[in-house]
Amino acid sequence: MTQASKQQRDILVTSALPYANGPIHLGHLLEYIQTDIWTRYQKMRGHNCYYVCADDAHGTAIMLRAEREGITPEQLIARISEEHQQDFAGFHIRFDNYYSTHSEENQFFSEYIYRQLQENGHIATRNITQFFDPEKEMFLADRFIKGTCPKCKAEDQYGDNCEACGATYTPAELINPRSAVSGATPVEKQSEHYFFTLPDFQDFLSQWTRSGALQPQVANKLAEWLEAGLQEWDISRDAPYFGFEIPDAPGKYFYVWLDAPIGYLASFKNLCNREDINFEHFWKADSDAEVYHFIGKDIINFHALFWPSMLHDAGFRTPTAVWAHGFVTVNGKKMSKSRGTFIMARTYLDHLNPEYLRYYFAAKLTGGVDDMDLNLEDFAARVNSDLIGKVVNIASRSAGFITKRFDGKLGQVTETAKLKAFIDAGKDIEEYYEAREFGRAMRRIMELADIANQYVNDEQPWVIAKQEGQDDNLQAICTNAINMFRLLITYLAPVLPKMAEASEAFLNSRLDWNHRAELLEDHAISKFKALMNRVDMAQIEKMLDASKEELPAATGEQSGQSDNTDLDPIAGEIEFPDFAKVDLRVVKILKAEHVEGADKLLRLTLDVGHGERNVFAGIKSAYKPEDLEGRLTVMVANLKPRKMKFGMSEGMVLAAGPGGKEIFILSPDSGATPGMRVM
Ligand code: MSP
Ligand code: ZN
Repeated sequence: MTQASKQQRDILVTSALPYANGPIHLGHLLEYIQTDIWTRYQKMRGHNCYYVCADDAHGTAIMLRAEREGITPEQLIARISEEHQQDFAGFHIRFDNYYSTHSEENQFFSEYIYRQLQENGHIATRNITQFFDPEKEMFLADRFIKGTCPKCKAEDQYGDNCEACGATYTPAELINPRSAVSGATPVEKQSEHYFFTLPDFQDFLSQWTRSGALQPQVANKLAEWLEAGLQEWDISRDAPYFGFEIPDAPGKYFYVWLDAPIGYLASFKNLCNREDINFEHFWKADSDAEVYHFIGKDIINFHALFWPSMLHDAGFRTPTAVWAHGFVTVNGKKMSKSRGTFIMARTYLDHLNPEYLRYYFAAKLTGGVDDMDLNLEDFAARVNSDLIGKVVNIASRSAGFITKRFDGKLGQVTETAKLKAFIDAGKDIEEYYEAREFGRAMRRIMELADIANQYVNDEQPWVIAKQEGQDDNLQAICTNAINMFRLLITYLAPVLPKMAEASEAFLNSRLDWNHRAELLEDHAISKFKALMNRVDMAQIEKMLDASKEELPAATGEQSGQSDNTDLDPIAGEIEFPDFAKVDLRVVKILKAEHVEGADKLLRLTLDVGHGERNVFAGIKSAYKPEDLEGRLTVMVANLKPRKMKFGMSEGMVLAAGPGGKEIFILSPDSGATPGMRVM
């Protein structure tokens, strides 16, 4: 038995379950990459570690979006799940199971836990008054209500806060409130709600939050909340709702956040059934297995207050730790669609190697909750200098000689002391990985890479290679260097799994953390192939341009929505005078051209009846440029010209349809002529 398997730990790891109503973006990826690095590290050390996740499939937003798309919620979540899993696979996120909260197992555990809470007297019911959409016949959460800010009178503000002046209020205080779902004026209506009586857990939580399960910053924040006093948590929603019906409460559904964390249990249970793993062993109250939840700082209350209380009360173990991370900013600012920095996973993958991002995040991650800035110039510089300039360079400068001069065979290591230092450094790196101090781990690894490069520079194998009678020396230098490289890439393997795989092929040997002291000697390696290419700023520019193009255009499906902005099935109502300001005109498409570097846009030259206009339109997916020329369409003629990446856009062309191939413009035989006003 090896050392590692003697102390083998049983570890279950989760990342937060992404909402099934939007695509994965680079902000999300910080979390999944962080978790993936940690679990790959644990697996590499020989621990029995499982990483599970799922889509968070329930809630009003998903229900309404499916309705808008004319499909069932089940169809919608199946499609999104597929997309999410492709995105994650693209970034080499290796889940042991990726499931859905809309599952049998999750319904079972949700009902089970609810009944336990109920039996133990922690469920209360009472009537509450809420806004109700009389047309859609549904209750409206605050963010589904819009109206005029009671304070600054800004129009079109959400029901809980004003984006113009920052005021917070209740929807009842809004002036002229209306439903964002149907536009109807909401009415107040009573209904019975179910509550989880969290204040019963005040003592339990005071202890648990101080038990070492939370980062110190987080524990301090929670101490403030606990001191301020806990509130009962509303866990029910009225039909129509996409979720699980509450047992013995017809028409009442579990609030999405009740069954979401239970999805961790459900996804793991699903894995256990498939792979014959002992679920109980991980989740029984006195389990000595370890359970860790990686989450973002915005969802701490759900994971550090409600979730441990529910588990504890229902007789399960509580998490060993909940680890929160900060938020991703790009170039120092919040991710923004207009700057092109709201970058979807897919858009990134279309342009850049996923391991660049894995390395960059790793190099900047700590065990804390600080936000993480993705500075794109720094990103390119860091990846190029560390990975290409330092790590890959060591192998590329030594491998050729081994192949050409020694028939691909390494000799004996001569720099024993140096290599011992490389092996021993693994102890520090282990501690850093374990503590999620990935930045420190990367710095330590790069220190070693500097030593290795210095060694090659000092020994100058390219000079030795030209000297007579120096064969043994040359082979030894390259053998030392390649062994240094092998240790570096072993330490980097949790961060760079593909590069590690390619290195295994090159070294013709498995990278094994626990047996890293066994050096490669008298061993045949394969021919060296480039392990990674340099990042090119031009690729980054292209990615930003493509992200700008994802901006919701007049045509096609809105894409690239963040998690909470995809809620309005229809835009808020406008008054007639607002509409009257819009000057709609029939125009003739004189010329339609491809735009260099744009995937979705065409440049249109339009005859507006009294001159020509240049407009960019996102209709490339549906039309070949030549098919558009000579056709008529409708444009917003008085839209303020907008500077776009590719030039000025002087207006906006209107079209209809779901997007893709189905974007329709006016029929050629409509009888309209350029300049005609549309009314
Ligand atoms: N569905 C809930 C989680 C339920 S867990 C039982 C949710 N989903 S989410 O899609 O909005 O976010 C998933 C995870 O990604 C969360 O941990 C969230 O904090 C994280 N992030 C989302 N945007 C982020 C950034 N811009 N930066 C860093 N993490 C971000 O919350
Ligand atoms: Zn306001």
